Amino acid sequence: ISEPDEPRLSAVRRVDSEVPQPSSTVAETHRTPAEISSVKLEDRERGLEVHSDVILKKEKSANPFRGKHNVLVERLSEVHESRGKLPVVSEEQAVMEAINENPVVIICGETGSGKTTQVPQFLYEAGYASGNGIIGITEPRRVAAISMAKRVGYELNRSQEVSYQIRYEGNVNPKMRIKFMTDGVLTRELASDFLLQRYSVVVIDEAHERSVYTDVLIGLLSRIVILREKRGIPLKLIIMSATLRVEDFAENKLLFSVPPPVIQIDSRQFPVSVHFNKRTPTEGEYLEEAYKKICKIHKELPAGGILVFVTGQQEVHALCSRLRETFPFRESRRCPSGSQVEETGKTKMKGVKFKLDAYPVSALDEEEGIAHVDDEDLLGTDPSTNAREATFQAAAEPMYVLPLYSLLSSDKQALVFQAAPEGSRKCVVATNVAETSITIPDIKYVVDTGKTKMKLYDRNTGLSTFRVMWTSKAGANQRAGRAGRTSAGHCYRLYSSAVFNDNFSQFTPPEITRRPIDDIVLQMKAMNIEKIINFPFPSPPNRESLMVAEEELLALEAVKLLKPGKSAEVGGSRISALGKIMSSFPVAPKFAKMLAISNQQGLTPYVITLIAALTVQELFVESWNDGSEQSEEVRKRHGYLSQMKKRWIGTGYTKMLGDLMVLLKAVGAADFNGATEEYCKEHCLRLKAIREIRQLRQQLANAVSLVTASDEVLINPQTPPPNELQAKLILQIVLCCLGKKIARKLPHSVVDANKPEKHRLKHSYQTQNLEQLVYIHPNSVLFQDEPEYILYQELFEGKKIYCRNVMEIRPEWIPKFLPQYCTFEKPDETAEPFFDEKSGTVVCQLSSTFGAHAWPLPAA
Ligand code: CDP
Ligand code: MG
Repeated sequence: ISEPDEPRLSAVRRVDSEVPQPSSTVAETHRTPAEISSVKLEDRERGLEVHSDVILKKEKSANPFRGKHNVLVERLSEVHESRGKLPVVSEEQAVMEAINENPVVIICGETGSGKTTQVPQFLYEAGYASGNGIIGITEPRRVAAISMAKRVGYELNRSQEVSYQIRYEGNVNPKMRIKFMTDGVLTRELASDFLLQRYSVVVIDEAHERSVYTDVLIGLLSRIVILREKRGIPLKLIIMSATLRVEDFAENKLLFSVPPPVIQIDSRQFPVSVHFNKRTPTEGEYLEEAYKKICKIHKELPAGGILVFVTGQQEVHALCSRLRETFPFRESRRCPSGSQVEETGKTKMKGVKFKLDAYPVSALDEEEGIAHVDDEDLLGTDPSTNAREATFQAAAEPMYVLPLYSLLSSDKQALVFQAAPEGSRKCVVATNVAETSITIPDIKYVVDTGKTKMKLYDRNTGLSTFRVMWTSKAGANQRAGRAGRTSAGHCYRLYSSAVFNDNFSQFTPPEITRRPIDDIVLQMKAMNIEKIINFPFPSPPNRESLMVAEEELLALEAVKLLKPGKSAEVGGSRISALGKIMSSFPVAPKFAKMLAISNQQGLTPYVITLIAALTVQELFVESWNDGSEQSEEVRKRHGYLSQMKKRWIGTGYTKMLGDLMVLLKAVGAADFNGATEEYCKEHCLRLKAIREIRQLRQQLANAVSLVTASDEVLINPQTPPPNELQAKLILQIVLCCLGKKIARKLPHSVVDANKPEKHRLKHSYQTQNLEQLVYIHPNSVLFQDEPEYILYQELFEGKKIYCRNVMEIRPEWIPKFLPQYCTFEKPDETAEPFFDEKSGTVVCQLSSTFGAHAWPLPAA
């Protein structure tokens, strides 16, 4: 990034030209508006260099990207009213003055002060979207990108002009002037237009979240702003953050040599009383504790919404359905306002002004619907309902329970912004999403489990696990703050003050220091950043994970070393033609490579399906191994499942493809049979997973046809399963891309070998980078077969360390497809090359060994 100026841009074009170019007509239609505008701009710059200088002198601060006039917006009176209450609105003048006069501005203010919804509107009204450029806003979370785009479109009364784009989904259209997107999406755009010439302003929202892409974007934009200024097409950069640790950006001399102004939005925060528990519940108790606390609040405390923080989607659902059972929402007898249950099951309420028709009732009913309650439950005779719950039911009004987490569909998310139906209390059960990204109105009580789910990654083993951990002090305080937006509130912390003081860290460390960064490094390489180590990160990543990422990309052949003999982090590395193609697919580098090399023998549709299936995970309703009771019927069905899996894989190469063949067949079977609920149940498939896979597959297919510029319909539900040749090629493609995830069977110990076959323990496997031995999971279709050499998708820890998604490979493929991991020995001095009649070639004996544990392998 030292000086990514003209020469580098032409370097981009040079690399591009190595990539097979689509025919010109197709290329024309597939050009993004950004590319087209960048071509025009470059021409104009070249031709009018002197001229533009003159203009610059005459109108010093003129910005060709900004319209001359303010834009008049007519808002609905309801919007007018609610905007008026937001603290940021009274600061509009100060905010806009700072933006007009400075290239970079930092705005910080409490969550809910109106930054996300209002600042884009200020910019729009000031004409920043009516010149050549549009307004771009990045969000670290998909939920926020979608819901904020909708809100701003509604507030501006111009919903067509406000679009969103998340990784696989968006509603971008030619009228768009404001674009909300995830930070990953903008990072990808940088690879095709490093100067972001379609934007007049870029707003980086939620900078305090410190997501990897946000951090990288801030680093990049700090330089892009200077480059754009030099070219007379200034770009405004606005960084918005909650009141947390702004100094990481504001006072970082590496990022900004002139510190940007920080505008502090003082918002009215009502006092929140924080109540600590006397004792801290154990690991297994906090959900129960949260449930009890909610019940108590609902029963004993005055009106006001409740917001509960738990750690993940499953906990959200579990708690939601329990609360719905306890405080049924639909039941007319419990509803003071006199709602009644109709035959159709829809609720009608007197004097309540919202339309139930507007709710996606069928979708709600499907999984998180308002519970259907029969009399037995109400009377508390259900053995699972204890006496205390029965008392709550008798006393309390209904509860309007809503889930909120990042992958929840957008119409369901939208429900949290609406008022609860009269006569009921709103209770939102949320993950971290509600901490700062989304402000839920009317919350008076916050119940904080203090827990958060973090993905932890072990650099040595490559194992990644989700662990439920204590959040940080800053996080807990943000959560508490949610209770004081509209009036004084209460926060119930389900842990003691001693635990808070002693066990909570001050801040959650930035994501970039906590996870593998191969994907972001690839994106940066695609922008021709050769020495990542010199990049101005707000917080630099760990040196070791940088090294691992560089090595991984080198092994995938996505980059080439600049100085042979010197490691990539020291000498730098440059993106290869393959890497360039890989960087255009919105998936992890290993999957991107699978896509990039799948363009043969009609394999692309299979590879797309596989990537979708491997990403979604847990396609099957597997048998439980936790010793819990299983009904006869369930057990029978699982017996059937494992038989079916065996039948699916067949013999030969399709069998070697193992669990991946099972995935392909399962998705194919569901396609063929229309993926109905009955079909899925009958075959132990999770309907939701099937739907997700099909959706993801379509999105990937679209992405691929965009990149390859082919209009070919890739996904045909009637595609037959892969044949022998295709199965073999798929296996080899996967091998090339998963690299080191190979394990070799170890012989039984002598003791085991003496036991009769059926009492013998299962074989253990030796992997490349792990000292501990690993096992094939009983759910794998290759569990019984125990092949000599296996390839697996990943390791996970259960009672033992297990391989997930296992395939069988031939050892001689390893030196052929993964030479980068092998050491080749010179042919034996005495062994002369000889003519092999069978193959008709001269053969020279060459032996190879693989990686750390030095397995001898046959020559390729
Ligand atoms: O970004 P910041 O946290 O400062 O605030 P915001 O997200 O702009 O929210 C401002 C207000 O708009 C809050 O009171 C939200 O509840 C409200 N809002 C809404 O009513 N509906 C939406 N879809 C989004 C926000
Ligand atoms: Mg916000």
